[in-house]
Amino acid sequence: MNINHIFVVGAGTMGGGIAQTSAASGFKVTCMDTQPAALEKAKAAIEESAAKLLKKGAISETQKTAVDSIRFTTDMQTIKEADFVIEAATETPEIKFQIFKDMDAYARGEVILASNTSSISITKIAAVTQRPDRVIGMHFMNPAPLMKLVEVIRGLRTSGETAQTVLEICRALGKEPVEANDSPGFISNRILCPMINEAVFALQEGVGSPEAIDQVMKLGMNHPMGPLALADLIGLDVVLFILEVLQKDLGEDKYRPAYLLKKMVNAGCLGRKTGRGFYLYQ
Ligand code: CAA
Repeated sequence: MNINHIFVVGAGTMGGGIAQTSAASGFKVTCMDTQPAALEKAKAAIEESAAKLLKKGAISETQKTAVDSIRFTTDMQTIKEADFVIEAATETPEIKFQIFKDMDAYARGEVILASNTSSISITKIAAVTQRPDRVIGMHFMNPAPLMKLVEVIRGLRTSGETAQTVLEICRALGKEPVEANDSPGFISNRILCPMINEAVFALQEGVGSPEAIDQVMKLGMNHPMGPLALADLIGLDVVLFILEVLQKDLGEDKYRPAYLLKKMVNAGCLGRKTGRGFYLYQ
């Protein structure tokens, strides 16, 4: 594996977290986004997270310095300097497909293009490029600097060599890779999102308050967070989008999103990122 420079496309919560994790693991990192404001926000979030981890002794001074050296850019063409690319842009298929076409046009031919998509088919993403054998899913969990798992998803034409390289990179990032098939929601969201949806149905039907529903899952099932607090962390728009993909692509009504979830997304109550979801945030 001769990979030194990781290029992360998208400076949202996941892109920033992946860039931070990569830098702390010794890779040279560039984080690219078309929106300068998104880059500024990511820079501040990464600084805050790394400072917290340093204070707790979870990372060293050297790792903190490496994180401080992440390069931020709005220029996609600098991708040509990269040895490995991870896309973590918005979960809108048309936007992702266009980004993959651009990355394919500018990145060197041998470079692997990984997507952090939570639910869009890797086979479909790969098909818009001229290098489907070097396109793969690399699904990190939020918050990326803390969570151990990376789901690794091969598209129909992903090569075995690409998959092996990605498994090695996951380990170099201090993560545990688990392979999943390219099926709607992969393993993680096939199971997680219906659980969150059921919690929203329970709330909608008055079975319990948000606090009661979350406490039952925390104290009774040892989940670190309740499903409604977790939905706020993930983003209610993201949860809704994944449920719609599950319902449409698996063709089963059991995945239909709770009406309350749709209503909250329509109202702009998307969770932590908007300051209001099932809970209020500062
Ligand atoms: N960087 C640094 N520190 C962070 C952080 C970050 N990005 N995010 C949280 N922390 C810190 C908190 O600030 C807190 O610090 P203090 O103790 O100094 O206040 C510390 O971590 C512990 O946080 P909590 O007190 O909230 O305690 P916790 O033990 O619950 O840990 C957690 C936090 C790791 C997020 C834990 O709650 C957890 O594992 N939750 C579940 C997360 C999960 O399920 N993620 C997957 C979501 S699904 C997904 O991402 C895929 C998808 O496609 C939708």
